[in-house]
Amino acid sequence: MSAKVIVVYDSKYGNTKLVAETIAAGTRQVEGMETVVSGVKEVDLNRIPDYDVILVGSPNHIGGPTRGIKKFIDKLGKLPLEGKMFAVFDTYLGKDFEKVVKKMERRISEKIPGLKPVAPGLSIRVEGMKGPISEGELPKCREFGKKIATQIKA
Ligand SMILES: Cc1cc2nc3c(=O)[nH]c(=O)nc-3n(C[C@H](O)[C@H](O)[C@H](O)COP(=O)(O)O)c2cc1C
Repeated sequence: MSAKVIVVYDSKYGNTKLVAETIAAGTRQVEGMETVVSGVKEVDLNRIPDYDVILVGSPNHIGGPTRGIKKFIDKLGKLPLEGKMFAVFDTYLGKDFEKVVKKMERRISEKIPGLKPVAPGLSIRVEGMKGPISEGELPKCREFGKKIATQIKA
């Protein structure tokens, strides 16, 4: 069985982009996955219903997702996505572990109740505003992607 996955991210300094690409690489370790990665500014909204799984990632900006990601989630609410799946990821500094992940999960379930979680969100630590990603975090991204892909196939 094959499945289509889209990873949509926002990123100011490139760290969340690298997380998105590493998650995508993880999904591709499972045979039959067709995964694309898109910046939120470039994403073609009309194509979103072509995918089985939508992964959404944002850096933590003052305790929440970026404006671009919030708008993207709100626009998803107008698309036919019943029965499709999602998962989220964030990058954060210091003590804000999972803060934005929780907010994105809440926003998605409110705006698009037909979209079902495929995995709990992934929160990835960075060392400073501009990164780099903390040691030991990138392997978690690859595992996250692989786990999701394995689950879709099952
Ligand atoms: C405007 C702004 C606000 C931020 N606020 C927070 C914050 O409240 N908590 C936090 O953990 N990190 C915060 N950060 C740090 C970001 O999480 C960090 O820059 C980001 O993970 C880097 O990802 P990027 O390279 O994809 O932009 C903030 C960064 C910016 C630019």
